[in-house]
Amino acid sequence: MAKGLDIGTMNIICSEREEEDVIFTQQRNAFLELESSDLTKTMLDSSKVLYIEKDGKIFVLGEEAFKFATIFGKDARRPMRFGIISPSEKDAIPMIKLIVERVLGEPNNRSEVLCISTPADPIDLDMNTLYHKKIMEAVAKRMTYETHVIDEGLGVIYSELSDYDFTGLGISVGAGLTNVTLAYLATPVMSFSIGRGGDWIDEQVSITTGLPKDHVCATKERGFRLGLEVELGSSEGALSIYYDALMTYVIKNLNRKLAEITPPKVEFPVALAGGSVMPDGFLKMFERKLREAKLKIDISNIKRAKEPLYSVARGCLIAARTHEGEEMEEGIIVESAV
Ligand SMILES: Nc1ncnc2c1ncn2[C@@H]1O[C@H](COP(=O)(O)OP(=O)(O)OP(=O)(O)O)[C@@H](O)[C@H]1O
Ligand SMILES: [Mg+2]
Repeated sequence: MAKGLDIGTMNIICSEREEEDVIFTQQRNAFLELESSDLTKTMLDSSKVLYIEKDGKIFVLGEEAFKFATIFGKDARRPMRFGIISPSEKDAIPMIKLIVERVLGEPNNRSEVLCISTPADPIDLDMNTLYHKKIMEAVAKRMTYETHVIDEGLGVIYSELSDYDFTGLGISVGAGLTNVTLAYLATPVMSFSIGRGGDWIDEQVSITTGLPKDHVCATKERGFRLGLEVELGSSEGALSIYYDALMTYVIKNLNRKLAEITPPKVEFPVALAGGSVMPDGFLKMFERKLREAKLKIDISNIKRAKEPLYSVARGCLIAARTHEGEEMEEGIIVESAV
């Protein structure tokens, strides 16, 4: 057995195999602090909510944090920002640890192989991902998983580009970041991230239209389509403008980073994943922009993951199974050598 884990700014998703299927367990990466009282506890217990008590406070975790935030007129807190542990959230690490423990569960066997995703260093933000990566690795190792880490963009390649020998460009447009990896035969040639994703779109649309961020996000996630005629001044109109700006920015930076390397002379397919690629019309618009940009590499086909939200978690599982296979092979070699 092996597992994959995608730790994202908005969603934490575990993947594992159940016979021929891959099953996903998912939680929102969020929590809400409430004053502890017997009444609150009774209510939470009866609704089977994931919560803990700490220092006389109750912390509601995951999906339910948003539901209870509305009931209590508060804002849910988010342990991560821009793809990594948020430095301004003092309770970030214990909260992520609890959500990860819940999503991942106990290992099925001793030293079960686990592969987790981490973002690549962003090129436009003054931060690096090392601390986040080490903490997440330590959380998983303490749960006794035999832990490996891969770049989020490589996770997309593992998940979507097996038919191309894991050669291609993997792009994950998430909530906090956009991660990009170019790989040749499963080996990263270039990896970077950009400090813009769905959160950036929500913020920009909220600033320009004056609508609350949650409202903008809900409109975006509820059947919003790109490339349609929209009413000027509507939130859909503003969403289209910022989606367009995000794509232009990602492609401009991709071109800039490609100029720094000497990629192999092959055709690269492109796979798009992450929750922010979900609106209808995203693939068409991105493809047009990418072809117009005349990149330094040759692009063959461009596809969107069948399940964009689960692509990185699926890729992590494939990577974990590969490690597991290697370890088993090594085991056989060692055994036969003895
Ligand atoms: N149907 C949808 N249409 C548009 N956007 C969506 C949809 N569903 C989710 N999203 C957006 O996708 C983002 C979450 O995607 P994802 O789970 O891939 O991010 P993440 O992995 O948590 O973040 P990151 O990789 O940046 O750390 C959010 O911005 C969310 O609003
Ligand atoms: Mg992600």
